[in-house]
Amino acid sequence: MVTAQPRSAAIPYLLIRFFPSIRFDTSVGKLTFSDQFLSVSTRLASPNLYGLGEHVHRRYRHDLNWKTWPFFTRDSSPAAGNSDNLYGQHPFYMCVEEDGNANGVFLLNSNAMDVTLQPGGPDSAPIVTYRVIGGVLDFYMFLGPSPENVVQQYTEVIGRPVMPAYWGLGFQLSKWFYNNSRVLRDVIQRTRATGIPYDVQYSDIDYMEDRKDFTYDGNSYGDLPDIIQDLHDNGQKYIIILDPAVSNKNRRDGSPYLPYETGRTAGVFVNASDGKTPIVGQVWPTDSVFPDFTNPYCAQWWADNCQDLHRSISFDGLWLDMNEPSNFLNGSLSGCDGNKWNNPPYLPAIKGGLLYEGTLCMDAKQIWGSHYDVHSLYGHSMAIATRSALRSILPSKRGVVVTRSSFSGTGQFASHWLGDNKAAWEDMAWSIPGILEFGLFGIPHIGADICGFAGNTTEELCQRWMQLGAFYPFSRNHNTMNGNPQDPGSFGKAMIDSSRDVMMTRYTLLPYLYTLFYHAHVAGTTVARPLLHEFPSDRKTWDVDRQFLWGRGLLISPVLTQGDTTVNAYFPNDTWYDYFTGAEVEGPYGGQTVTLDAPLNKINVHVRGGTILPTQQPANTTVYSRLNPMGLVVALSDSDSAKASGDLFWDDGEAYGYDETSKLEKPTFA
Ligand code: GLC
Repeated sequence: MVTAQPRSAAIPYLLIRFFPSIRFDTSVGKLTFSDQFLSVSTRLASPNLYGLGEHVHRRYRHDLNWKTWPFFTRDSSPAAGNSDNLYGQHPFYMCVEEDGNANGVFLLNSNAMDVTLQPGGPDSAPIVTYRVIGGVLDFYMFLGPSPENVVQQYTEVIGRPVMPAYWGLGFQLSKWFYNNSRVLRDVIQRTRATGIPYDVQYSDIDYMEDRKDFTYDGNSYGDLPDIIQDLHDNGQKYIIILDPAVSNKNRRDGSPYLPYETGRTAGVFVNASDGKTPIVGQVWPTDSVFPDFTNPYCAQWWADNCQDLHRSISFDGLWLDMNEPSNFLNGSLSGCDGNKWNNPPYLPAIKGGLLYEGTLCMDAKQIWGSHYDVHSLYGHSMAIATRSALRSILPSKRGVVVTRSSFSGTGQFASHWLGDNKAAWEDMAWSIPGILEFGLFGIPHIGADICGFAGNTTEELCQRWMQLGAFYPFSRNHNTMNGNPQDPGSFGKAMIDSSRDVMMTRYTLLPYLYTLFYHAHVAGTTVARPLLHEFPSDRKTWDVDRQFLWGRGLLISPVLTQGDTTVNAYFPNDTWYDYFTGAEVEGPYGGQTVTLDAPLNKINVHVRGGTILPTQQPANTTVYSRLNPMGLVVALSDSDSAKASGDLFWDDGEAYGYDETSKLEKPTFA
């Protein structure tokens, strides 16, 4: 927890120098340390800056030309592609120096802030300025020297990422407003009939009775328990959405809505400024109160309600939404007082220009502190409570928790998706920097809504997005309420065939992907990896964000532009083989861009020489693929010694035993 420490002091500047370069030098400007305004500037060692989220940066490498990025968790769509603060708060950056060495800087502070990037001059290095409206300046510096080392060091501080269940790496399907169980059944049948591997079906808020958590709609989804049984009988899993907002109204039949009643009695809701009356806002169920997940009694109340729901709806995972927390009103039903918390003297450049816009009043009270200080920890605290609830309900199954809002360290408890994007080519392209950034932030189980959330997709876009999404660590096709169906089974044969092929490729490679998650969990290495992490001294990799790697050995080069049937792919200096044909990429030595054929039914995937990838014959779900024979793809290095190495982590795919196994020597083959 980070709390405001009103204080002001004259502190000399801080300079951290590791010859020959300077990594952190605050002599560049004045340090201000006062009650609601703290500011410090530091000089960067180079202009190659990555991270700082959550926003749409469009590119992985930052533009340093006077850009201000605001931080404050917010229900705001990435589709606009502007500089709005989005769902999470991750004040962490990585800087890659001219020699390829990297360092990282983390400001552990949950208050709203601006981070302004400035270019520097001909003789001076770029500058980062922090302007924070509370807490303390608690900086952590990570000295790498490699980019992967920086991420390992950062996740050592904030907590290593959770190990998802094996099935959580399978393909997942979702839509807001299937509307009733007949449509839901049809979609499940239609998707199964495509033969596309498909592990997880979701239900969005329309499964609930009047959008009330812990209920399901007996009229439109009366046979939901049977549908779930059918999913389970077919080796599939079921994830439901839960929003934090709890209705304060009775049930449809006039009976008391028990989650509200019991929560009120136990005093688990966020209180207004008086510290005793639950603050009321409006979300999907209209008037709502907000659980204070920083209250241990609230975590217990939440677990009890999840347990009750699980008795009728046997979900395998939970999807947490609207937990910035989002409020359709500004502050509360009765607005907010005009005090220094709701209207602070310095306001970061946040969306809307009002701290409590679309959320709670800043003087609301939580156990960890005033909402002003802990607002951006709301989703994080909900993820902690939900992970613990899921573990108490399913003690031997680790399942999947997906959260929209996150803070540094949330990766220990949950996965994340990039939120409400739109069905557009640019959104698909922006998803790659987004995914790479969440790798830096220690949430490697990350993906964007495949085919786009808002708007209507086209068949070509959806086909290309299924190809890219087959390589998202978290691979889910999700669609908005009024969008045309975009489950692959709703398209023509060519689209279905290519989606099946690419998902079969994903499922073949799942043992490799799973092993990468194991390494992320025990050592903090990245899963979807930028080329620059493997080839940091190759300057050309510093800007590559239309391709990415899985681990060190698999390069994915998707088509991201409408109408294109070729793709320009950069191959750093090494040996690369076409994953599908085994053909070696020919060309001059030393890093090259190659134009590859990419007809509509193909995504280019290459294996790096020197790598061994563990594989398994695919099947329609991971339950069945895990029964199939395993294999190895061995790609020899092109040196005289012709070597290759790789490793495999394998367990039952869902128990918590990996906690113990992770302490053992890992099997390696070469
Ligand atoms: C939010 C979520 C979206 C979900 C919708 C309805 O917009 O980001 O994924 O479908 O709410 O629950």
